[in-house]
Amino acid sequence: MSLQIAPSLLAADFLHLDKDVRMLNENADIIHLDVMDGTFVPNMSFGFSVVDAVSKIATKPKDVHMMVVHPERWIDRFAQDKVEMLSFHLEAARCKTGKYLAKIRSLGMKAGLAIDPDVPVRRLFPYIGQADYFLIMSVFAGFGGQKFIYDSLDRIAALRAEIDKRGDKALIEVDGGVDMENAGPLREAGANILVAGSTVFKAADPAAMISSLREA
Ligand code: DX5
Ligand code: ZN
Repeated sequence: MSLQIAPSLLAADFLHLDKDVRMLNENADIIHLDVMDGTFVPNMSFGFSVVDAVSKIATKPKDVHMMVVHPERWIDRFAQDKVEMLSFHLEAARCKTGKYLAKIRSLGMKAGLAIDPDVPVRRLFPYIGQADYFLIMSVFAGFGGQKFIYDSLDRIAALRAEIDKRGDKALIEVDGGVDMENAGPLREAGANILVAGSTVFKAADPAAMISSLREA
């Protein structure tokens, strides 16, 4: 299966968001939307006003990455927005993780489980079979434009091996510092979806960059 590219709107031009969303409709596989609450991560991004507006014109699946302390509060609201993919962090959900994954699925969305780089990847293993995708952060959640953490490659390979061993179909999404240097190694390690913010939106030709990442 070829890599799917999910550009992160966090790096888009917020004064001309319609232009960037239309470019993603033409060129991307998925539209990644980073929702931060200023508590789970030391930054705030955007909330429903932006997600609602993007939903009106997006023709590619919307992938909301919740970096918030109470993910359960917002699951119904994102379902109303017809979000196709919704992820939250294991660190925020703890023992409620299975319950939240089931709730997301019950509302017709794909359920994603995210972890920061300091959470052992084996903590995801109990949820294989309950999640549609796992989001491996390759930087600490909170900001775009950070440097890729190379240890992420081993973490992805370990998760891929465990998913395959169990005969499950879950996808692995990688988020943070993705660029042309690490895209090939990420695919080889077993990643299926690459999130890329700065690499896409700071490129001279964002559409060409999306294709290059996909072919990496
Ligand atoms: C970081 C976000 C990422 C971010 C990626 O907390 O989850 O999705 O936008 O940006 P880059 O690709 O610039 O690292
Ligand atoms: Zn993200």
